[in-house]
Parts: sequence; structure tokens; C-alpha cells
Amino acid sequence: MNDKCLADTTVRLPEIGLGTLNYKGGVEPLRTGIALGASLIDTAESYGTEEIVGEAIRGNRDRVFLATKVSPTHFRRPALLLAAERSLQRLRTDYIDLYQLHRPNYTVSVQETMAAMEELVEQGKIRFIGVSNFSVAELKRAQAALSKYKIVSNQVRYSLVERSIEPALLRYCQENRIAVIAYSPLAKGLPHIKLRDPENILAHVAAMTGKTEAQVALNWCIAKNAVIAIPKATSIDHVVENCAASDWRLSPDQIRLLEGIGFRRRGRLEAALRRLARRVLQRVGYRPAFLF
Ligand SMILES: NC(=O)c1ccc[n+]([C@@H]2O[C@H](COP(=O)([O-])OP(=O)(O)OC[C@H]3O[C@@H](n4cnc5c(N)ncnc54)[C@H](OP(=O)(O)O)[C@@H]3O)[C@@H](O)[C@H]2O)c1
Repeated sequence: MNDKCLADTTVRLPEIGLGTLNYKGGVEPLRTGIALGASLIDTAESYGTEEIVGEAIRGNRDRVFLATKVSPTHFRRPALLLAAERSLQRLRTDYIDLYQLHRPNYTVSVQETMAAMEELVEQGKIRFIGVSNFSVAELKRAQAALSKYKIVSNQVRYSLVERSIEPALLRYCQENRIAVIAYSPLAKGLPHIKLRDPENILAHVAAMTGKTEAQVALNWCIAKNAVIAIPKATSIDHVVENCAASDWRLSPDQIRLLEGIGFRRRGRLEAALRRLARRVLQRVGYRPAFLF
């Protein structure tokens, strides 16, 4: 398994990790992934999978880089400290490697949230501070609110068919040495990629490389500087297959071919309108899934 630097720390992370949203595979697929070097496991207090992750890493804690997330409803200091404590209990560990703000909360001051995150670092309960679903402006504001530590990662949606981060966020993270943790790197399942690929480019490149379509889709993500992918896989077979998406590289020509697959890229206006809608809806306490 190839690894990449976590921001400007000395920590190396595998370029393929293990996602656990809607994960129902039990401990074995996760343990297989760890054994194959996919030692970054991503969960969240909202996923309901922290317990199973805790069980999977028992006896192996120091081989795993454990990432979890605090929900925006817990961004005030007392709620955030309590949420971290509860995650630690569910994960059955005494430290979280990467604690991520799941998405911005426009109703709580970022200064209060980031001060509480720094307190957790000082207490040794978390090693690194990360964010998720933050735009460049939100990242800058969150970083400016930190007095001692650097934001090491931003977890964002990125796949062959969802490339909204490319024009601004990806470049900003690469230039500022912030790791990009690509979520939904298989677009929540290969059929979603195939829908936008009427010419079967993915299958064609898979045949050219002797790799599977999932491996090609994942390799396309991790071929980008600073990007790590965290596919979710329920079966041992899928985990083994995904881990073998590392240790080789698509050629520049193959990457160019793959970039002929139809993809979505939200424009600045659409992104700004979505942020505005989220801000308004958070203020009135309504959170429809399609916007979050
Ligand atoms: N920060 C956020 O807001 C956020 C949002 C969404 C997701 N995430 C994180 O990112 C992780 C991954 O994203 P995701 O779960 O949305 O989607 P994903 O990883 O893009 O896709 C998961 C789907 O792909 C299938 N799959 C996995 N490996 C495969 C393979 N080798 N061949 C064919 N199909 C395969 C899985 O099937 P099986 O399960 O049957 O193997 C599942 O149906 C999540 O689990 C979570 O940790 C974060």
C-alpha cells in the first residue's frame, strides 16, 4: 500500500482507507483492510458505526489511524467536548487520531468550536484537527480561528463523476499541504459512474491495465497529489480489491481518457446558493438530506 504525508506532519497515511457510512460488514472486512495496509478507518458519531470500528481495531489500536467526526449540532464547546468523550467510549480507545468537523455550522462561532478542538488536542484526546465539506473560505476562517494547530485535512466528495473540488479547493489544499480525503470515491457504487459513461471508458481502461473498474476509479482519485480515498466496502472481496487499487499508477494517457467520462462540477454560483440555503435552514433548525 502506497502512503502519503498527512499535511506537514511526519505521519504517513495509506492512500486507500476504509469508509464506514452504512457499513454492515462486521469486523472481518475491516480487519482484512487493516492487514492489507488500509489502516485509515473513517467513521462519524452520526454513522452508528463507531462501535463496530472499535471492535475491529481491538488489539490493533496502534496500527490504525482512526478518524471520526463530530456533527454540526455539537459545535458549541460543552457539546463538542461531550461528543468527543462519547466517541472515545464507543470506539473503546483513549485517543482519536483525526477529529473532523463533519460540515460547517453557520449558527455557532467558529472561534468557539476551534478553541474546543484545541482543548481536545491539549488533553491528548485527539491528535489532529480536520474538517469535512468545507469550502476554501470556510477552511481559511476555521484555520484563522486556531491559535496553535493546523487543520491537516478536508474530507470532501470526489470521484470520476463528481469533480466540483478541482478548480479551487483541491488546488488550495495541495498548495497549503492539507490532505484531501476523498469520500464516495466510487460515486456510492459503480453503476453511478456507468450512468455517465455511455462509451464504457472505465471498462476500456480496466481492460488496458488489467485492473478492475473499481481499482481504476480509485486509482484515478489517488493519482492526484494530496488525495487519499476512503471507499466503503462491505465484503472482504471488495476490501481486498480496493486495497489493490494502490501500488501502481494509471498513465497520463489513461487518466486523460478517464476524464472523458461525464462528470458534475458545481459552479461557484451553485455552491454559494447551496451554502446560503444550508445557512438559512440551519438557523431555522431544518436539515433536509439533499442539501447536506
Ligand atoms: N464526510 C462526509 O460528509 C461523507 C459523506 C459520505 C461518505 N463519507 C465517507 O466516505 C466513505 C465512502 O463513501 P460512500 O460510502 O458514500 O461511497 P463509495 O465508497 O463511493 O461507494 C460505496 C459503494 O461501492 C460499493 N463497492 C465498494 N467496493 C467495491 C468494489 N471493489 N467493486 C464494486 N463495488 C464496490 C459498495 O458495495 P459493498 O458495500 O457491497 O461492498 C457500496 O455500494 C463513507 O463510508 C464514509 O466513511 C463521508
